[in-house]
Amino acid sequence: MINGKTRLAGVMGWPVSHSLSPVIHNAWFRQTGINGVYVPFPVKPEELEQAVRGMAAMGVAGVNLTIPHKEWVLPLCDEVDEAAKRIGAVNTVLFKEGKMHGFNTDAYGFWQNLEERARFVRKHVALVLGAGGAARAVVAALDAAGFGTIYVMNRTFAKAEQFKTLSPKVVPLEWNANPAQMKEVDLLVNTTSLGMKGEASLEIDLSPLPSYAVVTDIVYTPLITPLLAQAQERGFQVVDGLGMLLYQAQKAFHIWFGQEPVVDDALRQKVLEHLLC
Ligand code: ATR
Repeated sequence: MINGKTRLAGVMGWPVSHSLSPVIHNAWFRQTGINGVYVPFPVKPEELEQAVRGMAAMGVAGVNLTIPHKEWVLPLCDEVDEAAKRIGAVNTVLFKEGKMHGFNTDAYGFWQNLEERARFVRKHVALVLGAGGAARAVVAALDAAGFGTIYVMNRTFAKAEQFKTLSPKVVPLEWNANPAQMKEVDLLVNTTSLGMKGEASLEIDLSPLPSYAVVTDIVYTPLITPLLAQAQERGFQVVDGLGMLLYQAQKAFHIWFGQEPVVDDALRQKVLEHLLC
């Protein structure tokens, strides 16, 4: 019931109508019994500052940021956590005692999903495809998890090279459908938009991967991308990208409301139903 004590949170994006975050967080308000609502806020890039300052003034608990606001909101925050500083993007803002606190929960979301859904991840060598914003969170997570070598392969090589400043473990690679490094890779992560509904699929030969390798895709539309389908056919461990969305949200909810909500199959199912309609 919405009453005088209802807390408000939401997601700012431009566009934002595709966001699944309202489905996730509103399910958690029901689960935890916290009196709150979570709504989408379509905010134009040039109105971002006005929007976040207005929210702080109105007593909003917090907001998530999605494309294109994650990088731009960082300098507006009074305090920023280590992950956000390192990744260079804020996906969660907490409004507290007149201050704006910025966090990045994407790296947590990525790693937590893998830990929950892969049977076993050998943490020596990773191959990350893509060097965009999402790849930065993935590489930060892999560095923190203790990987010894993190290959970053990107169509635009110069962007992969820049990742060396993010982690000393990064080795940039030229884009190649048959990378020679494949046979030593424990974990392969696609962060490019290839394989997404309406996009070309990712052409890469997974056959040289070791038998215990894990293949994951941060794309979750479709849930089983052509990359994951190929990995499944070849018998590798496969982790889809939906969990990254759920776990980054779990940490944001905890930051705002102090309770860790449950990520379970019922929630995955609910979100999948919204993905399909
Ligand atoms: P996000 O924030 O989701 O990571 P992004 O920053 O736009 O989005 O990054 C998209 C990634 O997909 C980039 O690594 C991009 O490669 P470039 O840096 O060369 O642009 C990659 N990508 C997009 N389309 C691609 C294609 N057709 N082939 C190979 N890589 C592609």
